[in-house]
Amino acid sequence: MDYRGKVVVITGASSGIGRDAAVAFAQRGAIVVGVARREQLLQELADECRRHAGDASYLAGDLGERAFAERVVHETVGRHGRLDVLINNAGIPVHKQIYDVTPEDMDLQMRVNFMACVWTTLAALPYMLRQGEGYVINVSSMAAKVAPPRETPYTAAKAAMDGFTAGLWSDLAGSNIHAALVVPGPIDTEIWGKDDTPSGYNGPKYPPKIVTDAIFEVIEKRIHERVVPRFSAQLVSAHLLRFFAPSLLLRGMAWMEPVPAEVVEKARARAATTTRSGSGSGSGTSGAG
Ligand SMILES: NC(=O)c1ccc[n+]([C@@H]2O[C@H](COP(=O)([O-])OP(=O)(O)OC[C@H]3O[C@@H](n4cnc5c(N)ncnc54)[C@H](OP(=O)(O)O)[C@@H]3O)[C@@H](O)[C@H]2O)c1
Repeated sequence: MDYRGKVVVITGASSGIGRDAAVAFAQRGAIVVGVARREQLLQELADECRRHAGDASYLAGDLGERAFAERVVHETVGRHGRLDVLINNAGIPVHKQIYDVTPEDMDLQMRVNFMACVWTTLAALPYMLRQGEGYVINVSSMAAKVAPPRETPYTAAKAAMDGFTAGLWSDLAGSNIHAALVVPGPIDTEIWGKDDTPSGYNGPKYPPKIVTDAIFEVIEKRIHERVVPRFSAQLVSAHLLRFFAPSLLLRGMAWMEPVPAEVVEKARARAATTTRSGSGSGSGTSGAG
C-alpha cells in the first residue's frame, strides 16, 4: 500500500505503541496526526514525523471527553483535508482488587479505553464514506480474552472494544471501510509502570514494533483480527484453553496471582460498616457507613 499523502490519526501517540506506529507511518510518507495529553511529547513526535513525511500535526487533550474525541476527527479533516486511517490506541491501566474498584474507576476505564474509540469512529465514518475508503484499527489487549487478576475494569473495557470492532466489521460490509482489531500480548512500554499497584506479571515483554507491524498487516491484508506476538507459546496455549477448557484457563489465571485471604477479610470488615463500592470516597453509591 502506498501511504504517501494518506492522513493517519493515531491516539495514544505520545509514548509506547502509538509513538512507534506514528514514526513508522511517517517513514512511509503518511501525514500523521498524533493525539494524547502530553503536549511536549506530541510536539517532539510531530517534528520527527515532519522530517520523514514533510507534514504532520498533533492534538493534545483528554480522549475521555467526547467533545475532544470528536474534535480530533473534525479538526484533522479541517487541517489536512481527509482522514484515511484511524488508529484507536490510547489506553490506561488499572490493577485493583474488585473490592477496591469504584464506579468512577469503571467509568474512566470505559471512557478512555472504550468510548473514545466509539466517539472517534462514529465521527470518522461520514468522512470515510465520502472518500470511498477508510481504515479503523482498534488496539485491544489479550486481557480482553484472558482476564488477568485485578484487571476486571480493563478487561471489560477492552472486551467492549472487541465486540464493537467485530460489529463494525460486518456492518461496514460494502462500504470499502475496513475495521480491524490488533490484540497485543505483553509489550515493553511505560504502561507497566503507570499504576500505583502494578501488574504481577513477570514474563517476557515484546517490543512495540511487533504491534506496529501487525497494524500494517491488518490494513494491507484486510485482516479482521491479529494477535501479537503470533507464535508465543503462552498466548497460543491461552487461546486453546479458552476454547477447549475455559474453566481450566480461569483457574490458571487465578492461580497466577491468588487473592490473599486478608484482602477478602478487609473487604468483609468494610462491608460490615458501609455499602460503598471500592475503598475510595466514590459518589453515586449509597454509603451507609
Ligand atoms: N504494553 C502492553 O503490554 C499492552 C498490552 C496489550 C494492550 N496494550 C494497549 O496498547 C495501547 C497502547 O499502550 P502502550 O503499551 O503503548 O502504553 P503507553 O506507552 O502508556 O501509551 C498509552 C498512550 O495513551 C495515551 N493516553 C492515556 N490516557 C489518555 C487520555 N485520557 N487521553 C488521551 N490520551 C491518553 C497516553 O498519552 P498521555 O499520557 O500523554 O495522554 C499514551 O500516549 C493501550 O490501549 C494499551 O491498553 C498494551
